[in-house]
Amino acid sequence: MENIKIESLRPGPDLEKLVKIQKAVWKHKDIDLTPVHHFHISIKTGSILLGVYVDGILAGFVYSFPAVFASKWAQHSHLLAVLPEYQGRKLGKMLKWAQRDRALELGYDLVTWTFDPLQSRNANLNLHTLGAEVKSYLPDFYGDTASLQIAQGLRTDRLFVEWKIKEDRVACLSGGEIKNRDTTELALALERSSLEDGPFHPSKPCLSLNAGRLGVEIPRDIFRFGSLPGIVGQWQNALKILLEHYLSRGYRGVDFVFGERCFYILEKRVMSGFKDKK
Ligand SMILES: CC(C)(COP(=O)(O)OP(=O)(O)OC[C@H]1O[C@@H](n2cnc3c(N)ncnc32)[C@H](O)[C@@H]1OP(=O)(O)O)[C@@H](O)C(=O)NCCC(=O)NCCS
Repeated sequence: MENIKIESLRPGPDLEKLVKIQKAVWKHKDIDLTPVHHFHISIKTGSILLGVYVDGILAGFVYSFPAVFASKWAQHSHLLAVLPEYQGRKLGKMLKWAQRDRALELGYDLVTWTFDPLQSRNANLNLHTLGAEVKSYLPDFYGDTASLQIAQGLRTDRLFVEWKIKEDRVACLSGGEIKNRDTTELALALERSSLEDGPFHPSKPCLSLNAGRLGVEIPRDIFRFGSLPGIVGQWQNALKILLEHYLSRGYRGVDFVFGERCFYILEKRVMSGFKDKK
């Protein structure tokens, strides 16, 4: 049986392996990698840097640093990576739960991060498995950085998520409780234009809904359209219009359905002092 351990990473040869892991996972150019000296100073200044070891081999890591958003202290989780040959074996999930444990020990109640809204597996991990919530849409967040584009020449749009690590529902998920996906009474704000297999387009975003819960479809595997940046761009634009609209009107992304078809679930929250802009 494999011996799996999660440990805090300290200055030494393992920090150099973090650069190799980034290269293997993201295939980024050197200029886009987080360097060893950055991890050194981060360890000294309140960051959480954890590695997962499988039979003594460093197979992945998670890295977050202290941050302040809207006057609230948080750990902002900037990198989560598992080597391709170790992916799909629960290591990513273990790293995130260990990050939560460490953040709680340090007195935090919030962990934040960003991810590309068109990456369905990550949406599933973040919203369904971990119980984080989508708070806002960040258009072209990293600017014109080719390695962070979902397809060549597109914007680096990101969703900003909040992981409220002290909340009961997150605590239940950490204990292995399975979250039921409630898809009842879901009004569809965006869906694929055709049920045919193949490179399908998004429908026109519907901005006039007022239901308590909305479904927003994305392709199950956007990388299938990799050679067709035009279609990826259509999905990116449709999502931007739609998510900016509803997130600014009190909706939050609260879950994700990963199946033959994939959907974000948005839920309307009552916001104090919030006025509908319509
Ligand atoms: C994202 C990443 C760290 C996940 O690590 P992993 O060890 O492969 O993932 P796990 O086996 O722990 O799975 C964790 C969750 O991810 C999602 N997931 C993983 N594989 C999936 C798949 N094939 N289909 C759908 N969801 C999937 C699920 O929510 C899963 O939770 P579950 O097992 O309870 O269903 C890893 O795939 C990776 O390094 N990807 C590239 C880097 C990256 O995208 N990082 C940013 C993440 S926000």
